[in-house]
Amino acid sequence: MQRYDCVILYNTVDEWDMDGSDEGAYPANLVREEVSAVEKSLAAAGFRPFALPVADFSKGLVETLTAIAPRFVFNLCEEVNGGAELEMCVAGLLELMGIPYTGSPPLTLGLALHKFYVKQILASADVPTPWGWVCHPGRKLAIPGRARFPLIVKPEHEDASLGINSNSVCRTAAELKRQIDYIHEIYGQDALVEEYLDGREFNVAILGGREPQVLAVQEIDFHGLPDGEPRIVSFQAKWDEESLLFNRTVPICPARLSKRLENKIKDVALRSHLAVGCRDYSRIDIRTAARGGLFVLEVNPNPDLSPDAGFARAARVAGYSYGEMILRIAEAALERSAVPVRGF
Ligand SMILES: Nc1ncnc2c1ncn2[C@@H]1O[C@H](COP(=O)(O)OP(=O)(O)O)[C@@H](O)[C@H]1O
Ligand SMILES: [Mg+2]
Repeated sequence: MQRYDCVILYNTVDEWDMDGSDEGAYPANLVREEVSAVEKSLAAAGFRPFALPVADFSKGLVETLTAIAPRFVFNLCEEVNGGAELEMCVAGLLELMGIPYTGSPPLTLGLALHKFYVKQILASADVPTPWGWVCHPGRKLAIPGRARFPLIVKPEHEDASLGINSNSVCRTAAELKRQIDYIHEIYGQDALVEEYLDGREFNVAILGGREPQVLAVQEIDFHGLPDGEPRIVSFQAKWDEESLLFNRTVPICPARLSKRLENKIKDVALRSHLAVGCRDYSRIDIRTAARGGLFVLEVNPNPDLSPDAGFARAARVAGYSYGEMILRIAEAALERSAVPVRGF
């Protein structure tokens, strides 16, 4: 029998479809492409990987991990028990079992799904984020005196542009109320309202465990979007390859930047990665304001690692093949010593 020495944990995502959502479901085929590319890269590097899907937490999951006793887990799991909020517990389980794993620790994974907490942590590290506030379901909308339209509304605890569509940028109080209600009703969670920054958008990929390296800065080119369409990476623009919005929001990597701006963006990205406690790899979304200045939109501790996604593109620009990028992430996990808990 083949003896496996590492496990790729990933989630089955076919049930992401959200009733009443304008965004649709995260494409399950993308996860499969990511898993099989990681699997091939690990095998090419001499590992013997076992790809283990996780839908719900079960005794079987613990038993399989115990039976394989992997040297490390490549953790691609972004949800469990039908939601992202327990994602951090999968990393927590691996901590408890004493199995080294790739990627960020539980606290960072949990934090990244609370965008307002992240903003507060970044503020305390002197990293600017767009001004904003949180609207809880069931409370009357009170627009702070400081607010100026246009404003953008997003779900507080989501990722992957879920809940973000062409109506997310609001120009009046009525539009704002409608969009906040949409997040409360369909996504069943707090809505985060932010000043809409009408500037350039950058994604910055960071790779490495103990010594993280900023790989490259990618820019999203919005110039081809039709008039009236907000210049944002909505769910459709991110995932629906057939759509106009997807095809008119073009990633450019490396971004065309002055050396000075490039250095500033890389510095803000690295400080954000460290402030939120990201490990091994992350992607930081940054935007400029029309009035100038760089603002962090989001810290993403588990960006898509598929060969044709932005992270791998940035790695190629920095001189890493896809296989080398995956190997660096795996090696970062292997470098961390772990003390197995008795009983496993
Ligand atoms: N304050 C903002 N101003 C302008 N655009 C924004 C703002 N916040 C988000 N966006 C747009 O919405 C997209 C998704 O928002 P983001 O905070 O990155 O959430 P997600 O976790 O879903 O990627 C961004 O890539 C950007 O295009
Ligand atoms: Mg984002």
